[in-house]
Amino acid sequence: MRLGELVLEGGAALAPMAGVADRAFRQLCREFGAVYTVGELTSARGLLQGSRKTEALLEMGPEERPSAVQLFGDDPEVMARGAEAALRFSPQVIDLNMGCPAPKIAGNRAGAALMKDPELASRIIRAVKKASPVPVTVKFRKGWDENHINAVEFAKMAQVSGADAITVHGRTRSQMYAPPADWDILRRVKAAVSIPVIGNGDVDSPQAAKALLEETGCDLVMVGRGALGRPWLFGQIAAFLRDGTLLPDPPIEERMAVMLRHIRLMEQYKGPQVAFREARKHCGWYMTGIRGAAALRRQAGTIGSMADAEALAQAAIDLYHGRGPWEEDTI
Ligand SMILES: Cc1cc2nc3c(=O)[nH]c(=O)nc-3n(C[C@H](O)[C@H](O)[C@H](O)COP(=O)(O)O)c2cc1C
Repeated sequence: MRLGELVLEGGAALAPMAGVADRAFRQLCREFGAVYTVGELTSARGLLQGSRKTEALLEMGPEERPSAVQLFGDDPEVMARGAEAALRFSPQVIDLNMGCPAPKIAGNRAGAALMKDPELASRIIRAVKKASPVPVTVKFRKGWDENHINAVEFAKMAQVSGADAITVHGRTRSQMYAPPADWDILRRVKAAVSIPVIGNGDVDSPQAAKALLEETGCDLVMVGRGALGRPWLFGQIAAFLRDGTLLPDPPIEERMAVMLRHIRLMEQYKGPQVAFREARKHCGWYMTGIRGAAALRRQAGTIGSMADAEALAQAAIDLYHGRGPWEEDTI
């Protein structure tokens, strides 16, 4: 698909995930073949107040591009000024969050709450579009709840308001992340607008990525939770979309090397204190599918240094090959 000067094709995009898809993870996913990445949701107001913590969310490296910053807020003027401030980080795209279900955000008229106020949403899109020299996109949901499913009307509103593309997550706000995503709403949105549509929800395999594209006609598929602990999924999706090749998961040694590289990148970008604390959940995800994963996850929850992470990687490799600690007991 085309987005301004960008041509995004041949694979999947990485979904924005606050607290997870940070610079390190975005870079890793991009290296494995993600065609586009979106940063963590960031408060436009926080940005204007000069919050250092907020600004840090927008830092993006050359390795992760093409990339969008994602802003949230409920005030058109603040969002427009926030977009201007975000341009300092040279994003290729500005994405507007109109789908976040978290009470802290949706409880304050922002995020998914904007789906209940399309008029305000439209004013926000128009204001940001006017302020931004780069494409402006909007990410939203199926609707607020089962009684307020308005993704099609919302998509048309976004288009008329100037959005260059939209991303739709096939769940309502009240569904949060639980039941299966509704891909039919993606198909209906795609049929209703002429701007590119990125389809999102429950894609966790190359086959699912292809199925979403075929069933909905969407221009690009976006993957979130499916990539946690397995950024190589993007390479598998790209290969399958290219010619139907199903690449196996990398061998355990390689998977653990990826995990260690991931943690080193986090350490580099966030410093050891934050990095090792935040790396614990990622390490837990990298353990998924390994025999004895529960014990490994417990170990993952305690890492505090690179040496701890290396010991975890070795324990996972040993367990995988059936060289668990129990064998030492029996020697
Ligand atoms: C931990 C987590 C954090 C998320 N943070 C954001 C966010 O900052 N902005 C956003 O638009 N969506 C966010 N989402 C939603 C995802 O981008 C995506 O729409 C959702 O997870 C569905 O896709 P999936 O089934 O591939 O995970 C988040 C989801 C998760 C699980």
